Amino acid sequence: MITAIIIGLGERGNVYSDYAISFPHKFRIVGAADTDRKKRDLFQSKFQLSNDQIYDTWQDILKDNKLADVAIIATPDTIHFEPAMQAMKLGYDVLLEKPMAPTREECVTLTKTSKDRGVILQIGHVLRYTRFYSLIKEYLIGDVIGNVVNINMSENVSYYHYAHSFVRGNWNNRENSSPMILAKCSHDLDLMYWFADSKPDRISSFGGLHHFVSPREDLPQRCTDGCPISETCVYYAPRIYEEILPMLHVSLKSDNIINRIVIKLAIIFPWLKLYRPFSKINEYGGWPVSVITDDPSLEGKRRALQNGPYGRCVYNIEDHNVVDHQQVSIIFENGITANLTMQGHSSEEGRSIRIDGTKGTIIGEFMLSHQKLIHIDSLTNKRSVILDIKRESGHGGGDMILIGQFIEIVAKKKNGEKFEEQTSADKSLISHLMAFAADEARLEQSITKP
Ligand SMILES: NC(=O)c1ccc[n+]([C@@H]2O[C@H](COP(=O)([O-])OP(=O)(O)OC[C@H]3O[C@@H](n4cnc5c(N)ncnc54)[C@H](O)[C@@H]3O)[C@@H](O)[C@H]2O)c1
Repeated sequence: MITAIIIGLGERGNVYSDYAISFPHKFRIVGAADTDRKKRDLFQSKFQLSNDQIYDTWQDILKDNKLADVAIIATPDTIHFEPAMQAMKLGYDVLLEKPMAPTREECVTLTKTSKDRGVILQIGHVLRYTRFYSLIKEYLIGDVIGNVVNINMSENVSYYHYAHSFVRGNWNNRENSSPMILAKCSHDLDLMYWFADSKPDRISSFGGLHHFVSPREDLPQRCTDGCPISETCVYYAPRIYEEILPMLHVSLKSDNIINRIVIKLAIIFPWLKLYRPFSKINEYGGWPVSVITDDPSLEGKRRALQNGPYGRCVYNIEDHNVVDHQQVSIIFENGITANLTMQGHSSEEGRSIRIDGTKGTIIGEFMLSHQKLIHIDSLTNKRSVILDIKRESGHGGGDMILIGQFIEIVAKKKNGEKFEEQTSADKSLISHLMAFAADEARLEQSITKP
């Protein structure tokens, strides 16, 4: 049994905590902290915690004694460094959400501290734990495509995800959160480093903010204030949060044929949502609605759009300054070259990958709606489908596997057994250094060393 305290009870804090519901004999939550009272109350009743197990801030819960085996830290990016340092000082093994911290110096200090104090510091690089990316790694280790020569990856952030998180939301300003190449792509850079199996040597990068550059004085400050382009603007907030059209489009690719028919009909005849079972769509409260309100009724969502940040016109948000497209080129010490394209205008959310080796190629699509991996053998020209599955929630299944393996290694450490971390802090640090170097290369138009 491993015990935990959870710091930050938002989306990610809850994702990891849910492991205690699925595996109560392995994992128990004994304390939690969040500055938001509603989140504390919800969490307290969900995990049946007593009043003295609930704290208002990370400082309160990490004040003096160690209360559990591990601390899971899922606060906003700029509130990672201090609680993680304090938790390690108290002797906690720590699962810290990515990015480790928004500056190079803080990431290095965190990694060094975990080593000096002999505590585990694992970063939430969940994609390494998915079936999709693990299979690619197995193929590379098994020498199936020979020596890797080039890796090509794309992170296609959908237009509604970009608008939600990176224009209207928490990650829209590099000074208040982190550069987008770190916030969104530390996963991709981590995977690249894992697949190249070598340290990065030199990095170049191009990109910037392409679309949301000039304010639109002809448009109101909020979508709900009678916007004249509401019919044609893909960022029109009521369509994203009330009609949840983008989420319906993803669900159209689900396995369940009845669901598909219901959704298709609801898209073609929106008035059907006045009646059951179609009216259930109006009550959708999952991501991204869960971020804007905890009242998923149509009235609750409308109130959030009228008063909160997510109803703002995307063209008139003054503090928005993160890039909406960026390319990164890398050469690793072993000579492998790699490219990453990240952009926030994709019609569909998902990543793609192509790895070419001296004996073959692996091509993959890791989309929100499906995952597909193909191997092509150069000698025989045989094309084999390695994986072909529909939607898997929780980062393609990676969330639950990561927390499960984290608990397993903490248990091994506690029992004095040997253990190996798949994503130790020093491995995760490399991807963060790559992101800082890419950001620098883009801004200075230079070639940098991570
Ligand atoms: N691994 C991944 O793939 C992944 C995906 C999404 C987000 N993240 C990262 O996870 C972290 C959390 O993201 P989220 O989407 O859960 O955000 P969130 O806003 O839903 O949750 C953060 C919580 O921290 C709380 N908080 C703020 N200040 C605090 C303080 N001083 N003490 C205690 N609690 C405090 C907030 O009230 C909020 O409930 C971020 O760093 C984000 O970048 C990682």
